[in-house]
Amino acid sequence: MNIISSPKDMQSFADQARAGGRVIAFIPTMGYLHDGHLSLIREGCRHGDEVVVSIFVNPTQFAPGEDLASYPRAFERDCLLAEGAGATTIFSPAERDLYGDGYQTFVALEKLPFHLCGLSRPTFFRGVATVVSKLFNIVKPHVAVFGEKDYQQLLVIRRMVSDLNFDIRIIGGPIIREADGLAMSSRNSYLTPGERQRALCLSKALKQAEAMVRDGVSGAADLIDAARKIITAHPDAVIDYIEIFDPETIEAVQTVDGPARMALAVKIGTTRLIDNTLLLP
Ligand code: PAJ
Repeated sequence: MNIISSPKDMQSFADQARAGGRVIAFIPTMGYLHDGHLSLIREGCRHGDEVVVSIFVNPTQFAPGEDLASYPRAFERDCLLAEGAGATTIFSPAERDLYGDGYQTFVALEKLPFHLCGLSRPTFFRGVATVVSKLFNIVKPHVAVFGEKDYQQLLVIRRMVSDLNFDIRIIGGPIIREADGLAMSSRNSYLTPGERQRALCLSKALKQAEAMVRDGVSGAADLIDAARKIITAHPDAVIDYIEIFDPETIEAVQTVDGPARMALAVKIGTTRLIDNTLLLP
């Protein structure tokens, strides 16, 4: 497996691959890989001859006071795991190579960020759209794979790719969960054993909403209330949002009379966790 850190070297590598007729699949990550990331790498292998995984903890998507400095890192282990899942190249740039002195160019969307996670993290999607644009220009992929775990992020990337005419096919991968239902996340490593147990309230709340919708409940307010009850049963769980929305536009819906998405963000202790699911009447 190749390990490349310079953006210029990555661009030359991508040019050579393209000149040789090889298809480049790309999986951007912030590292500390788990089975969710690995499932996206495996999906990438189905679409590309070169499967590039980036590992970069992107400072512009963290606000002051968030966990940039403490974000978990395990580069050697990540390389082994990525290679085992079929990655052919790791791209792991230094911060100064992506954001040098005088850096001042950002990509910001006008509507999608003003919902869900964008409300409590107002600069988050600007950081994500910016770094993903930069990575697309460096890795030059034909196909890129993103997880539905970060559902709003997936919509932001699809919109950005369409709006800015990136010639890249975006593929969404399903949420991978622990055996007990907790959505996998690099941030789960912050949880104490007690918090890890209480963190199950996110997936339980979503499971219950899925069941209620299958049983004919369609009022979004009723579904959200029932989810809120499950979560607030734990005194150290603080809800950021619970929303039911149109899967394409992210606008809130009052009635679930077609496919809808339910998403929530909850702080368990000091760790902010997100999860979502498809509601199908
Ligand atoms: P990170 O949180 O490392 O996630 C990298 C990719 O893995 C994202 O597409 C995310 O949706 C996906 N992912 C995370 N947990 C998952 C799970 N349990 N099941 C399936 N997919 C999962 O998302 C980012 O990094 C960054 O914002 C990034 C796009 C790399 C830009 O910096």
